[in-house]
Amino acid sequence: MDERSAKSGEPREAVPKGRGAFALDGASQRARAAIKAAWWTAAGGVTRALAQPTRGEAKVRFEPQGPPVSAARLRRAYLAAFDKDAADVAAGLYPPAQDGLGDPAEAFRQALDVIADARAVDQRRRRGDGVEVREEPGTEAYPNYYRQNFHYQSGGWFTDASARRYEAQVEALFSGAAGAMRRRALSLLARHWRGQDQRGLKVVDLACGSGAFLADLATAFPRAAIAGLDLSRAYLAAARSRSGRGGVQANAERLPFADASLDAVTCVYLFHELPPRVRPVVAAEIARVLKPGGVLAFADSVQPIDEPDLSRLLEAFPAYFHEPYYSTYAQADLPALFGAAGLSVAGQDQAFLTKALLLEKPW
Ligand SMILES: C[S@@+](CC[C@H](N)C(=O)[O-])C[C@H]1O[C@@H](n2cnc3c(N)ncnc32)[C@H](O)[C@@H]1O
Repeated sequence: MDERSAKSGEPREAVPKGRGAFALDGASQRARAAIKAAWWTAAGGVTRALAQPTRGEAKVRFEPQGPPVSAARLRRAYLAAFDKDAADVAAGLYPPAQDGLGDPAEAFRQALDVIADARAVDQRRRRGDGVEVREEPGTEAYPNYYRQNFHYQSGGWFTDASARRYEAQVEALFSGAAGAMRRRALSLLARHWRGQDQRGLKVVDLACGSGAFLADLATAFPRAAIAGLDLSRAYLAAARSRSGRGGVQANAERLPFADASLDAVTCVYLFHELPPRVRPVVAAEIARVLKPGGVLAFADSVQPIDEPDLSRLLEAFPAYFHEPYYSTYAQADLPALFGAAGLSVAGQDQAFLTKALLLEKPW
């Protein structure tokens, strides 16, 4: 097949700049992202004002090693995430996202819910209590590392209320940039598959959570067979309803799929929540279920090596948001981790506080 576009003579990898209908889509994506960013910046500001996590009596003792973060540098990185997202939409890589404030009443309800829960989160933070969920009956069947209130969130991964609230909490934390950051992984996958017939492609979004990225995948690849997988029953139910796609409740350490059965696995924000001994197990499972030539589209937090200027922020994250495995993730050599499982880096990208990798299983 000719690797160059007949009109422009550009390599196929070089995605053309937005024009025509796609340019309008890009403009619409940008406009909706601006509204979403303003909304979640305000909601996040109210939760922080109520909780004042850095003031008063608290168990948190944060002694930063990294240099102070420049507000201008942070703002540039934040805005660049929206620029990249809108540019990809304008280039026709994927359609405008459906994660804006489509229903103002619902957005209002979500923001109020996050704000109402902020005090409970802060009390857990001040007590340093990240394992409250272990008191809940029914959680014994899950791995111990999983039975925690990650981010100090109410209900951990175990309740319907937590699953309903999660996406709004993440957007409030990242001032509305979470969707744009996650879509760096979508961008890598869409570039990789550009021009390819999607029918028959099988994709699993591993640790799909409440389904924000699963919904992006379903919108971008409507003809592919796409499903979510998560260990949380409650989060899977939310993911099904958000994305309209099926979901499997399973542990990522033992994937219920045959060897070489999937064209792609996507995995967003899971690895920083896994203990170091579990990461290679999950990486090996992903490699096992991918077909030869199949890819993992991975996204997770940037590491200090990617953003030395923002390293103090990355240090603060586990101190204030119960992330028991984040500090080992921050130092992990991801290409080596996946390389040991047989996957090699075929692409990478970054936006604000998220990095994305495309990892390929050899033919
Ligand atoms: C931080 S959330 C990320 C969710 C989603 N991918 C996103 O982009 O927001 C982590 C998710 O990983 C799931 N998870 C954690 N450990 C898991 C495991 N061993 N197997 C399957 N899912 C797991 C949790 O239930 C939770 O939904």
